[in-house]
Amino acid sequence: MAARRKLIAGNWKMNGLKADGLALASDLAGRLKGAGAVPFDMLVCPPFPLLFPVGEAIKDSPLALGAQDCHAKKSGAHTGDVSPVMLVDAGCRFVILGHSERRADHGESDAQIAAKAAAAHAEGLVAIICVGETEAQRDAGQANAVVSTQLAGSIPQGATAANTVIAYEPVWAIGTGKTATPADVRDMHAHIRAELAGKIADPDAVRILYGGSVKPDNAAELMAVDNVDGALVGGASLKANDFWAIGTSCR
Ligand code: PGA
Repeated sequence: MAARRKLIAGNWKMNGLKADGLALASDLAGRLKGAGAVPFDMLVCPPFPLLFPVGEAIKDSPLALGAQDCHAKKSGAHTGDVSPVMLVDAGCRFVILGHSERRADHGESDAQIAAKAAAAHAEGLVAIICVGETEAQRDAGQANAVVSTQLAGSIPQGATAANTVIAYEPVWAIGTGKTATPADVRDMHAHIRAELAGKIADPDAVRILYGGSVKPDNAAELMAVDNVDGALVGGASLKANDFWAIGTSCR
């Protein structure tokens, strides 16, 4: 199996003001610097207004910065949107795209997500493309088919293991305290790995993250599952101790 370095990504969602974000990011950056060699990469994805101050605060540390969305265009008449060029300007290396909350709250389609990912790639950003089924879809036995359709539609031409990360986040596990069982996660991640063939040049090297109620007490078990190459963490990424514990659960 290809050696894939784990990625522990914190999705702060719409949480935190400047002082909170600076304190959290600086704390994590300090721990990473102090820890020396660790078997994971760590990423924080604050809300847009915090990207510049947080980016400035962590720029000399191994802690990476990402955003939670971007527009598919570089600039122009798109009120309220933020372009990938602006994200790079703020110090971002990553951008989360197609999170289920964006798909649900903003009606984002697979085609829009693919266009955003292509735009992100063009600016040198790594796109974290999110997929995952709802509870009703899983109960109806459609989980694999739903995820296959999302992957087929959301991964743009030119995607590589260097510029693309996939995050599997079952919608019913996000913010609910319910996590998929390790067996379900193993099966879905194997399915995703197989589906990447033909869509990404080097499918074995692509990192596939699990997300959905990852906490310090379930992280070690989830991170040990085959084809789980890290975590996309919401609630538990807002507390430095919890997020750090998730990182250090990686072996
Ligand atoms: P959660 O969120 O860890 O709070 O479940 C995960 C996510 O939506 O990225």
